[in-house]
Amino acid sequence: MKGIILAGGRATRLRPLTKITSKQLLPVYDKPMIFHPIETLTQAGIQDILIIIAPEYAGQFLNLLGTGSDFGAKFTYEIQEEPRGLADAFIIGEHFIGNDNVTMILGDNIFDENFSSVVQNFQSGGHVFAKKVQDPQRYAVIEFDEHQNVLSIMEKPQIPKSDYAMVGLYILDNRASKFAKNVKPSARDEIEIPDVINQYLPSGELKVTTLSGIWEDAGTFDSLLKVNNYWAEKARDSNK
Ligand code: DAU
Repeated sequence: MKGIILAGGRATRLRPLTKITSKQLLPVYDKPMIFHPIETLTQAGIQDILIIIAPEYAGQFLNLLGTGSDFGAKFTYEIQEEPRGLADAFIIGEHFIGNDNVTMILGDNIFDENFSSVVQNFQSGGHVFAKKVQDPQRYAVIEFDEHQNVLSIMEKPQIPKSDYAMVGLYILDNRASKFAKNVKPSARDEIEIPDVINQYLPSGELKVTTLSGIWEDAGTFDSLLKVNNYWAEKARDSNK
């Protein structure tokens, strides 16, 4: 299993914070945000990790993260020149993925959840994760039946078919790169992740698991504050 962290983009929603650095380098309590997705992958037993970054602050990522040895991992870096969309990770990462499976995580998605057994047991197809949210329009919305069969996945729908967001961690086999190349840009001119995942549906090869643990997309001021408070509280509790 290889790992990809998608940590590019322009993060205009977090300006002016992101005028001087990248969103994924902003603090989440006592460490830069990107440490969280790195630790989510390494805790799941993934050591070979591609980090995709935007050109503007690429040097800062290299200074901070280096080879990956501090994390017991091996890091490879690729530049994404333009934020073409999440599906681009599988095109940029095609050679890195090679014949292996891949777990892709978004650089601003913060989990307090251990994915080790699902990653270690994954064989083929796709496995995604759903979390009940108050504001499903902000996310890809995943609709599934009582047997966890996925019925539909739609990016930021105006009328959501469920209250479940598809969170930013995707375990896919190496068809992801081929599927990503089939995807046409959406109305907002991005190649969207649901259009990759949906290609696993017709053959019944997509699994969804509902998350019970903590998950937050730290892409807004409020959610960034929330994750900072969560990890501060957790650190205080463990020092008691
Ligand atoms: O947090 C989960 C949600 O993340 C999913 O439910 C959505 O399906 C997914 O599209 C995404 O929604 P966001 O609106 O939060 O995406 P955002 O533009 O913030 O990008 C997510 C991360 O990926 C962020 O760390 C920036 C990075 N990124 C984004 C794009 C579009 C890139 O590195 N390159 C890109 O081209």
